[in-house]
Amino acid sequence: MSKTMKIGIAGGRGLSTMMGFNAIEGVEVATLCDLDEELLKSKSEQYHIPHTYRIFDDMLESDIDAVVIATPMQCHVPQAIAALEAGKHILSEVTAGVTMDELWWLKETVEKSGRTYMYAENYAYMPFCQQVREMVRKGLFGEVYYGECEYLHNVRSLMVYPNGKTSWRSYWQLGKRGNFYPTHSLGPMMQWFEGERIQSISDHVPDGKRQAHKAEGGLHLSPAPQHDRIPAAGHQGML
Ligand SMILES: NC(=O)c1ccc[n+]([C@@H]2O[C@H](COP(=O)([O-])OP(=O)(O)OC[C@H]3O[C@@H](n4cnc5c(N)ncnc54)[C@H](O)[C@@H]3O)[C@@H](O)[C@H]2O)c1
Repeated sequence: MSKTMKIGIAGGRGLSTMMGFNAIEGVEVATLCDLDEELLKSKSEQYHIPHTYRIFDDMLESDIDAVVIATPMQCHVPQAIAALEAGKHILSEVTAGVTMDELWWLKETVEKSGRTYMYAENYAYMPFCQQVREMVRKGLFGEVYYGECEYLHNVRSLMVYPNGKTSWRSYWQLGKRGNFYPTHSLGPMMQWFEGERIQSISDHVPDGKRQAHKAEGGLHLSPAPQHDRIPAAGHQGML
């Protein structure tokens, strides 16, 4: 009989993967890690997860094979590197990291580790995104040469936790200039340009008043012959 693959989840949001893991034979969610003890107790009971940890590094000492990282964004790279160095595979929530420097550290560690690192960009699996991707693959637009994408999410209510404490989003989302959450829009769209590499990205965040998170993007890919533009639109993007 083949070995069971044991998964450890870090951060309550990672429980959104439970249904998927439960559907795969030979996979068991064995551990849950979160700083919040109440969450640990209630969710481990609800999902029948046998082992719980408050401290991420303690979980890494267990015999899990892979880790789902669903803690706040600024924890992702340090936790991913620690997990890779402990020999675990990774499924990481968006975004992978919060600075370019740490993304290079991550890339180098993944390459050295020989382990699998998967970026959990769920928007690529939204039905309307999959539908446009299939239309592109079937050639319904001819050769695609242009794409726009947009992701709108008002996160004002998530700036402060119900207990009154400031949430990580306050600094890492509304506290930063630029688009730090681009892959919900770019990820699905890049599937329309298989084999291409991004040459430049333009980005627009419309107001500086820190009121709502709105990110739009455009892509410039390698030059392609001109064709008539045939638009296709969904909530997520337009061709
Ligand atoms: N893919 C999506 O559609 C989507 C949607 C929402 C959030 N997210 C991502 O999920 C991640 C978590 O977001 P959230 O909204 O659940 O945040 P949150 O702040 O509501 O929850 C974070 C959880 O992680 C725990 N935690 C914090 N630091 C920890 C640590 N060092 N070790 C263990 N546990 C720790 C907290 O106790 C909390 O339960 C973020 O990266 C966010 O970008 C993705």
